[in-house]
Amino acid sequence: MPQKPDNCTIVIFGAHSDLAARKLFPALYELALWGKLPDEYRIVGVGRAALSHEEFRSKVQEKMAGLFPEAIRNKEAFAAFSARLFYVRADFADREGYDLLHEELMEGSGESGTSRNLLFYLATPPALAPVIVRNLQLAGLGENNASPGSWRKIIVEKPYGSNLQTARELNSVIGEAFNEERIFRIDHYLGKETVQNIMVFRFSNGIFEPLWNRQNIANVAITIAEEFGIRDRGAFYEEAGLLRDIVQNHALQLLASVAMEPPVDFSAESVRDEKAKLLRSIRHFNPESAPQTIVLGQYEGYRTEKNVASDSTVETFAAIKFFVDNWRWKDVPFYVKAGKNLAETVTEIVITFKCPPQNYFGPAESCSYTANQVILRIQPEETIAIKFGAKRPGEAVITDPVYMKFDYKTSFAAVGATPYHRLLLDAMAGEQMNFIRQDSVEYSWAIVDAIRDAVKGQSPEPYPVHSWGPESVQGIY
Ligand code: BG6
Repeated sequence: MPQKPDNCTIVIFGAHSDLAARKLFPALYELALWGKLPDEYRIVGVGRAALSHEEFRSKVQEKMAGLFPEAIRNKEAFAAFSARLFYVRADFADREGYDLLHEELMEGSGESGTSRNLLFYLATPPALAPVIVRNLQLAGLGENNASPGSWRKIIVEKPYGSNLQTARELNSVIGEAFNEERIFRIDHYLGKETVQNIMVFRFSNGIFEPLWNRQNIANVAITIAEEFGIRDRGAFYEEAGLLRDIVQNHALQLLASVAMEPPVDFSAESVRDEKAKLLRSIRHFNPESAPQTIVLGQYEGYRTEKNVASDSTVETFAAIKFFVDNWRWKDVPFYVKAGKNLAETVTEIVITFKCPPQNYFGPAESCSYTANQVILRIQPEETIAIKFGAKRPGEAVITDPVYMKFDYKTSFAAVGATPYHRLLLDAMAGEQMNFIRQDSVEYSWAIVDAIRDAVKGQSPEPYPVHSWGPESVQGIY
């Protein structure tokens, strides 16, 4: 059994955020329930509302009762968890609040030893991150104020900055307060079992990797589709748009995992070296290549969503044809398609292999009909399927596509852990592999900035709700 993390305090900035309510508190509570948190821990929420510790506890309980009623049915366990919740009121831009936080962290912890190790979690909009980190540093809460043998770490939610320039600025501000090995840039996709399995699938099996290259693969298609719209995140979406919300992080991380070279070893740095190298190899976009490689869309009705401008040109859909300019992948298209309010909720990576040199069997379109594929379904089903052609029973020799399938659900007992369970534990333990390193963040922004520049001034094309995006997507295939 892995060791328990050191006793520590987890400090959540944005304690009233949707993310905190939906993901962080439930994950922390369940980790406590499963005995995975340290023996002594405290969770300090930081927010603008004036609340006592007790009021804060009631609020967390209220939200959890609404979202996950069954989670808090065990009243005793929830009470024990709730007693470890504390609250500090702070205006993020105001120094004073950080002195109060310092006081709460150092003095409120009593004999528990939880003030020695601090894990800050920024569940706040990207523009607030620099000011929070500067103030932490000024209030003596940065890493260089930690006593020997203790630690201070910071988890920063995506989007990390809003373009290359702001990401660099943020890297430099955070770099003054924390060393790179204490900075955890989170992309929750990297905490998904099926995403972590991409590398295992590729590098623990001998039969796929020899084929995993431009000689054998015709194209790779990555889809991140959601059947629902922006929900109540109008203000966020107007700032971010889908390119920043999904492509810069989730989509490019999937692309990096499926296309990276084998790492020297299975250490965080070796794996992240290969991902960074891959992202650096992605061909950049320009206005000349844009019409054949980029389609942005906006679902019909987006402009009437709450907190959305009536003439908004923010994209809620993107289809992009990427190329990876290296020896393995030169000229193999990587089609990335992501969007809100699409026909289905599904995330998958489909690797389509080239046809055999001769088509002996019918039907005439046999190759595209039965082309070999490896289909890595990330969610909602957690499966891997291999598609191949088989003879249709009967006198004529005609091939039909058939599938061999592995399903997590039937092959393994359900674990119940979500990405946030895993990534919170990883950060407490100092395990960096599934967090994004500074160089990768910057390469990803450089790509997304180039995409945005290449289509500057163009409005996204409207598409009907529950479709597969604008019709012009066909044009980039
Ligand atoms: C988040 C995005 O990072 O990921 C959301 O901000 C998106 O827009 C979500 O809906 C998807 O994550 P998951 O794990 O629910 O598929």
